[in-house]
Amino acid sequence: MESILSKRVNRNETEIEIGNRKIAAHAFLYSPSTKILFNSIPMRYSIMMQIRFDGKIGFPGGLIDKGENIEFGLNRELKEEIGLEEKFYLDESNYVGSYVTPKLVDHFYVKEYFEKDLERIERGVLEAKDWGGETLGLLRVPVHTLHDNRKPLPAFLLHNFIADARDQLIHSIVDTDVLSESEMNNILVESQQLKD
Ligand code: GTP
Ligand code: MN
Ligand code: MN
Ligand code: MN
Ligand code: MN
Ligand code: MN
Repeated sequence: MESILSKRVNRNETEIEIGNRKIAAHAFLYSPSTKILFNSIPMRYSIMMQIRFDGKIGFPGGLIDKGENIEFGLNRELKEEIGLEEKFYLDESNYVGSYVTPKLVDHFYVKEYFEKDLERIERGVLEAKDWGGETLGLLRVPVHTLHDNRKPLPAFLLHNFIADARDQLIHSIVDTDVLSESEMNNILVESQQLKD
């Protein structure tokens, strides 16, 4: 977890680091879930991710245009990619930190919705402008525990994620207390073992 946490910086620290980097913003949208799998397993939470046009998994969001306000650009991308309605838009209070790579500064946001509202947002994805183009799949991240204490998250984390999306997922799951830091550490170990 150390290296993951240390990757995230505050927005004002990124201003000096921007240089030739592009600026983007993406968001972790989630809700509690009352859904029960196999009549016995609580699904616990719905966390929204997407399959992108390039085959990788990422969060909805995108590039901020030159001179565009970051939250304005984020909401514009969320409208284009998942059809997000204005009443569900994000604001500065949802900002959690920024991820800097040699090419990109990605401002990251987290927002919790009521279950009914996230389900409504999910249904709207098929109506979004970019559905079937930039966005080729809507998915929920598995954070439940199967029988015999088996967890699907270690396998899920072996998918191919775009840029810092995997770190953002791990980080946000811990930030939102969907899983504790020690549970997440065990999951990362298990995920690595599945790969070996
Ligand atoms: P266009 O509308 O086609 O311009 O794409 P976009 O504006 O939606 O941009 P996109 O979301 O594809 O990503 C912009 C940049 O952010 C690219 O450099 C991606 O590699 C990167 N990126 C995409 N998704 C994520 C994500 O979930 N997390 C992070 N950290 N970076 C991402
Ligand atoms: Mn995008
Ligand atoms: Mn886009
Ligand atoms: Mn793109
Ligand atoms: Mn765009
Ligand atoms: Mn686009």
